[in-house]
Amino acid sequence: MMKVVLITDTHVTVRGEKVRGIDPVERLDACVRAIQRLVPDADLCVMMGDNVDTPSEQEYRTFLQCLSPLKMPIRYLIGNHDDRDMFVRVSPNLPRDRDGHVQSMLQTKDGVFLFLDTGKSGEHYGDYSGVKLVWLKEQLQLAGSRPVYVFMHHPPFRTGFWNDHSMVREPEKILEVISEAGNVRHIFVGHTHRATSGSWKEITWTALHGTCYENDFELLPAKPNYRGGPAQIGILLVDGEESALHFHDILDPYPLIAYSGKSNREPQPA
Ligand SMILES: [Fe+2]
Repeated sequence: MMKVVLITDTHVTVRGEKVRGIDPVERLDACVRAIQRLVPDADLCVMMGDNVDTPSEQEYRTFLQCLSPLKMPIRYLIGNHDDRDMFVRVSPNLPRDRDGHVQSMLQTKDGVFLFLDTGKSGEHYGDYSGVKLVWLKEQLQLAGSRPVYVFMHHPPFRTGFWNDHSMVREPEKILEVISEAGNVRHIFVGHTHRATSGSWKEITWTALHGTCYENDFELLPAKPNYRGGPAQIGILLVDGEESALHFHDILDPYPLIAYSGKSNREPQPA
């Protein structure tokens, strides 16, 4: 079984600079400490985009520095706050496809992972068209009958939230490719700044909350206000055809109640 850590929408700035009143670097540092404590043996970490906020090269350096204590391999997605070329300049060894997009495939004994690049330079909406679709079609063909798990920053489906305005444009194109292949089991996305799950035709999906600010619960047509958010990460367990995603809030306001082995109604030790 594979253990994969999912982190999205870190919106890292330079140290000390806040985003909507939140210190994103402090939060990412706390996530890294939690990963070291909870899942130091994870096989992989996926950074799901909006890795930095502005963006700037200094922010990317800070972002990578925050992640440097992690021992597992890391794959990166591109979000609307990212700049692909800038990120590649700071981190030249990022896995990319033949056209330079930051997207790649990872074959494992438990399935095939596809990391898609939905970034569109200068735009907030997601793009998955042209040569990106050609690449995806090839990867899905290569995967054959093995289960495929897809990771992308922008959702290609609606969630009922403001972010639907900036979902992947012309989503029917990617849906056609995925449906034709028939091997995609689940899609994981960021961008929404809310933990959400649903289905899109025959495919199930999950959006992660992110570690920086969250969008308050205000459905369309409202433009949501923001909240501090729980600084949530995901811990994904994949065992071939089976998968389970655990949400873990770093800023947990609830006290731990230790299991005593006694009945719930018996007096508990103070
Ligand atoms: Fe974001």
